[in-house]
Amino acid sequence: MMQRLLLLAALLTLAACSRDYSPEPQATGEQIFQATCAECHKPANNGSLFSLNAEKDNLAYLNQKISQGSWLMPAFKQFSSDDLTKISTYVMEHSDIAEQ
Ligand code: HEC
Repeated sequence: MMQRLLLLAALLTLAACSRDYSPEPQATGEQIFQATCAECHKPANNGSLFSLNAEKDNLAYLNQKISQGSWLMPAFKQFSSDDLTKISTYVMEHSDIAEQ
């Protein structure tokens, strides 16, 4: 239990840092991902970032996930829709498609 709390505290501390970052307009999806997401999301051994099912492997879902977050993942409200599209496209290009 204590370890879980420490992990959560560490995640929240990390989240506080990355939420301040606003990308340059010319930043690529990869650069933004490295700056804001990579601290929590490391690629698997096969280089894949996520395993996304059909419901999640699309811009609408990913843009919303990034801008709204979840109870464990920070919300990145500062990203423009251009930024979101760049990041989500990068995520889809570097993820596996899950069976379901
Ligand atoms: C502070 C840590 C943290 C940061 C920073 C973070 N995430 Fe997450 N992310 C999580 C956690 C924890 C989960 C699993 C729980 C969940 O789905 O909300 C997750 C889940 C996801 C998922 C799985 C989709 C789903 O709904 O199942 C995607 C895709 C994702 N993150 C993308 C991103 C992107 C893109 C960024 C950068 C803009 C980012 N995350 C930044 C912690 C983080």
